[in-house]
Amino acid sequence: MIEDAANPESIESAARMLAAGGIVAMPTETVYGLAADAGNDAAVAEVFAAKGRPADHPLIVHVADRAAALQFASDWPAFADRLAAAFWPGPLTLILPRRVNVASAAAANLPTIGLRCPSHPAAQALLAACARAGVAGLAAPSANPFGRISPTSAAHVAAEFGPDLLVLDGGNCEVGIESTIVDASRGAPVLLRPGQIGAADIEKAAGLPLRSRDQVESADPAAPGSLPSHYAPRAKLRLMNAKALQTALDLIGAELDSTDAQIAIYSRAVLKIRTAQVLQRRMPDDAAATAQQLFAVLREFDQRGARLIWVEAVPETAEWDGVRDRLERAAAA
Ligand code: TXA
Ligand code: MG
Repeated sequence: MIEDAANPESIESAARMLAAGGIVAMPTETVYGLAADAGNDAAVAEVFAAKGRPADHPLIVHVADRAAALQFASDWPAFADRLAAAFWPGPLTLILPRRVNVASAAAANLPTIGLRCPSHPAAQALLAACARAGVAGLAAPSANPFGRISPTSAAHVAAEFGPDLLVLDGGNCEVGIESTIVDASRGAPVLLRPGQIGAADIEKAAGLPLRSRDQVESADPAAPGSLPSHYAPRAKLRLMNAKALQTALDLIGAELDSTDAQIAIYSRAVLKIRTAQVLQRRMPDDAAATAQQLFAVLREFDQRGARLIWVEAVPETAEWDGVRDRLERAAAA
């Protein structure tokens, strides 16, 4: 069932369910999460099962603040402190050395743990209510079946998991793509997943140069979360520049005659489309606005029966890193 996250009673009853080992979907500023008590390995196992997620893919633990984070992290380098001070609460996940025997299932038994303090007021309210009920952190992956598009509205979550799951409705997510992940467990910051908070912002706040995952790949034991194919719609997604898009449309236009829309296009360029069988959404010129709507647009294309999704390649500039990463993974599926 979907409940209004602005209702304090819904927050309280969700916290009670979580403290009793249940699962609840919660809004965050990035995407919706499927939450369980991070300290309850059995509840965490249910999250893995509900998502169909392999047990060796660690979950992010959401905490109310830095003090709560220190219940999970055993070591906290100075640059992690600077990053948390700059970006928490907000869409940044820090990978830190994990305290022994704490949140083992959530961390997939890795020696590290991913920690994030979300800024969404409903997530904050839920974490505060959980803390009062003795739950220090919520393990929450994105609330989608493994490998599929992350949900950015309560309706997206309900459509995937059915009416039995309690979904706290906090509206449409503002950021729209998952948090930036920085590994702070190796002495120097390493960018594991681009997001709204960009590489330059991280370097500035950390006071250290960011190393890329590739530069340290050999030292990376599990390389979790690095699957090339991810965030996939059902339809086959291709990335093309505007010129190639127009050429492809010109070539295929004459062939399309069925009654269903078969091709969906997401582009900044204005294209000449000669058939009604093409569904088109305009991509904003702005990276943040595109991130905010990206997953909802891909879901809509799927829902409307598109079999091919053609997306205009995004600019090579840094502010598009997060969107480009999600599109490239979707295209690799
Ligand atoms: O914005 C977000 O981060 C959302 C919301 C719900 O907070 N959560 C999210 O969770 O995207 P999930 O499970 O879909 O993605 C978590 C990513 C995975 O790629 C996982 O491998 C990585 O974080 N991760 C978690 N713990 C890790 C660890 N100890 N070391 C390396 N990567 C880790
Ligand atoms: Mg995910």
